[in-house]
Amino acid sequence: MTDFIELSEADRPVRKERRILTGTVFEPPLVSVIIPTLNERDNVREIVARLGKALAGETWEVVFVDDDSADGTLDVLHDLSRSDPRVRFLHRIGRRGLASAVTEGVLSTSSPFVAVMDCDLQHDVAVLPTMVRRLQEGDCDIVVASRFMTDGGVGDWSKNRLFLSNVAKRLAHLVLASKITDPMSGFFLMRRHAFNLAVRDLSNQGYKILLDILLSAKPSLRVSEVPYTFRARARGESKVEPIVVLEYFTLLFDKLFGHVIPPRFVVFSLVGGGGVLVHMLVLAALNRGFGAVFVTAEIFAAIAAMVFNFFVNNLLTYRDRRLVGFWPVASGLLIFCVLCSIGAVANVGIASALFRRDYSWWLAGLAGVFVGAVWNYATTSLFTWRRANR
Ligand code: GDD
Ligand code: MN
Repeated sequence: MTDFIELSEADRPVRKERRILTGTVFEPPLVSVIIPTLNERDNVREIVARLGKALAGETWEVVFVDDDSADGTLDVLHDLSRSDPRVRFLHRIGRRGLASAVTEGVLSTSSPFVAVMDCDLQHDVAVLPTMVRRLQEGDCDIVVASRFMTDGGVGDWSKNRLFLSNVAKRLAHLVLASKITDPMSGFFLMRRHAFNLAVRDLSNQGYKILLDILLSAKPSLRVSEVPYTFRARARGESKVEPIVVLEYFTLLFDKLFGHVIPPRFVVFSLVGGGGVLVHMLVLAALNRGFGAVFVTAEIFAAIAAMVFNFFVNNLLTYRDRRLVGFWPVASGLLIFCVLCSIGAVANVGIASALFRRDYSWWLAGLAGVFVGAVWNYATTSLFTWRRANR
């Protein structure tokens, strides 16, 4: 479809722009390609060139979503978008995360079809036209490029990576309505309306945006798959860290029980369990090993446990709001210890009160632990790891 931009009376005074605009033919793109980037300087131009070749027969645009890359990616994006109107980018500052980058990228576009892919050339752009045709045929909402169909492939993955990927897939199949071969794929094409069915319920946790979309959309999406071969990364480094395993479980948990228990609370409680272990170890070492007076040993054990909990929570539970630098960490630690000490007093208070009312020792103890944990979680998420307000 070809349209001319219509100018209203209000535009009259800006003569120069108007002349430029009047001559501009505006062809809205059929496909918006969303590409999250983090330090991909050497891959950006190449992927735009490949998109140009692969999608030569279509109208398209590409939107890069960059989380403040430090390697010069943004300069390349800037130059590219000045020379090619099909290239745009979103620059996010103080933010991280592939899933939320994709979501915000999609929301910044308006074409009927939206593709998502990586920047590192591991995803084969040559299958995009097949995916577009599949959507145009009309009997599905989302087309996933799969590494695990006959004709697809993962190149030279290690045994370990294959095993992990298989476990993740099995877990996904437990919760997914459609048993697709590659629910972990980061390469897919969907209708905008399909994304809109999911967008308000997305967890936006970590890497697995496709799974997030499939699990959030109501009613379920009709999925179709096309095979492709996953290539080795051309240039730059993979950003996958071991933390993605935790993020993956958090996503599944959130999708299954998130409406009842916040997944962050579960991680916080597990870390708390680790803290109990630290407490007991330090207590044993000081009291049994070094013969310290019990109360002194107990005080040091409690401090050690709180310090341990603070740093582990800062790294895992609240990694998205992580405190960095001496003063933020020092004041965060202090606030954390004060709040958890109040939690401990509440814990002991509730447990003793219940015990006095003839509750069994273990029920009274558990109730105390629960109240303490909820208090610690609620107050530290409010005061220690405040949501950044930018
Ligand atoms: N904006 C932004 N923010 N981009 C990011 C971030 C981030 O925090 N982390 C990674 N990226 C970008 C990378 O620059 C790259 O373009 C893309 O996201 C994927 O990152 P990789 O580090 O290359 O991930 P991968 O290859 O291990 O995994 C990808 O491919 C798998 C197979 O399709 C992901 O897409 C997985 O979800 C997918 O399973
Ligand atoms: Mn990659």
